[in-house]
This record gives sequence, structure tokens and C-alpha cells, in this order.
Amino acid sequence: MPTGEPDAATIAASETRTRQWSSNGQERIKYGSDAHKQMMCKMFAETFNPYRPSVLKWPALDDAALHRITSLPIWDIAVQTEGKARLRMAAYARTVADPDMRNTLAQNAWEENRHKEVLSKMVQHYGIPLVPEPPYEYPQDPEWAYLVTGYSECIDSFFAFGLFKVAHDSGLFPPELIDTFEPVMQEECRHILLFANWVAWHRANLNLFKRIAFELKVFRVWWFLGLERMDLAKSLDADGNEHTQDNNFTVNGAQSVTEKDLSVVELMATCLRENDRRFAGYDKRLLRPTTMPFLVKCALPVLRFFERRKRK
Ligand SMILES: [Fe+2]
Ligand SMILES: [Fe+2]
Repeated sequence: MPTGEPDAATIAASETRTRQWSSNGQERIKYGSDAHKQMMCKMFAETFNPYRPSVLKWPALDDAALHRITSLPIWDIAVQTEGKARLRMAAYARTVADPDMRNTLAQNAWEENRHKEVLSKMVQHYGIPLVPEPPYEYPQDPEWAYLVTGYSECIDSFFAFGLFKVAHDSGLFPPELIDTFEPVMQEECRHILLFANWVAWHRANLNLFKRIAFELKVFRVWWFLGLERMDLAKSLDADGNEHTQDNNFTVNGAQSVTEKDLSVVELMATCLRENDRRFAGYDKRLLRPTTMPFLVKCALPVLRFFERRKRK
């Protein structure tokens, strides 16, 4: 491993590699085929960004910025979500018979752990108090746990892309801090790109009965996530104390990262634009997550209607 900090050219090259990827071959691929699997695994390996949390620099913050960051109600849930994701992905990877797919999912788990390290370093550096982490439990049904994690990432990343852009444009946070988290954001984009393709590949390789069972499971996962997000999450820490955190920060946290009066319509439109922008550099033949963009596109005209009425 190289020691010391990478130079600007090395960072720029690895940034481009992470964001742009395409492969040769036929114009169309059959989803579920070996070629499809090879393509997603290759994408995931070749877009890997080798940043290291231990050498990240944390900028000095003035009092206002420090307060703004430490008071965001997300740090416990963010650290624990990454911790859960790494275990759940690793647990599912162990059950996958295909060696390429297993390696790819194991790498995804590794990257979740790296997110957790980035967050832990930041929290430590700025002295953000965290509750003790509850024990991470090995899932009884790794496929269920992986599906919950994967679809949660699809929902959270969609809103996080928009929120991150709002925070970036607000000027309330030092650009160095935004830059530090930028690779994490793009990594989540790669993760949900992989997940959308894994779902299609997995689905296509099931027999009729397994396929029906799988679709029922997917339906139950969405149901579970819907219920979870309708309320604030209550979680117990390692000492058994209950804490309430906002599971929906990505949706209703916009006002904490900007001073602009941001309407829901503007925020949703930003999420859609950012979603398209982050996926734009990857091979067009790979499938993209579609549910959140679809739901938000459907909701936008309704939201616009209510906003216009409110203004009258
Ligand atoms: Fe993550
Ligand atoms: Fe992820």
C-alpha cells in the first residue's frame, strides 16, 4: 500500500474511473445471462475507488458550521446503518454459489464497512457524541436482510443525492467536507446500480416456484420498508436505552442543510436531476433502480398543484 497522500492527478483519475464505465460487446444483453453477470461484476470491480478513511483530512470548522453538523440528527443512525449493511451483505454473499457474484457482494460489504470508518473518523474528529452501538445480529434469513438493505439503499440514496446537492449549493458547509463525502455518495450510486442488476439477474435464474416465493418476499420487503418509514425509528442502544431517530431524514432534513426556503417540489426535482446525473456515466445496458424516480415523477404534478394552491 502506498504511504502518504495521493497527488491531485491520481485523485482525479480515480474519480473519473469511479464515475464512468462501459464495456464492449453486443448492443443488447439478456438480463440474467452470464454476460449480464460478468458486466455488473466487472463494473463493480473496475469502478472501485481506492480512497482510505485513515488519511482523509477533516477541515477546521467555525462554530456555526460545527454546530450545524453536530446537531444533525443522523449520526447514530448513519453509523448503525452502515454497520448493519456490511454484516447483511457479507452474510448474503456467503450464501451465493456463484464465485464472481459472491466476490462482488463481499466487496460491497467491505465498502459499507469503509463508509462506517469514514463516519467514525469524522464523528471522532469533531467530537460528535454517539450512543453506544447495539450488537449487530447475524441475520436469520440473509436473503431477506440483503433485500431490505438493498431496497433501503435505493430509497435513501435517491433522496440523499438531492440533499447532498442542496447542502453543496447552500455554502453552509466547507467544500473540503463536501469533497470528502462525495466518493461515499457516488459509491452508494454504484451499490444501487449493482443491486438493481443483481435483482434482475437473480430473478431470471429462478424456477417458477422459487420465482413466486421471491416476488412475495420482495413485496413483503417493500411493505416492511413502507411501515418503517411512516414512523420515527425507535432503537435501543447497547445499554437498553431507547432513542428516537429520524428514519426519513433524507426526505425532511433538507431544511437543516440550507438557509434557502426550499419547497418539496424543488427538492424532489433536485433528487431526480442528481439521480440521473450520477447514473449517467455507467454503461447504458446496465439496469438502473426505477421505483423511487418513478414514484417521485408521479407525485410531482400533484405536489406542484398543492404548492400552487398554497401560494394563492
Ligand atoms: Fe454505505
Ligand atoms: Fe451502500
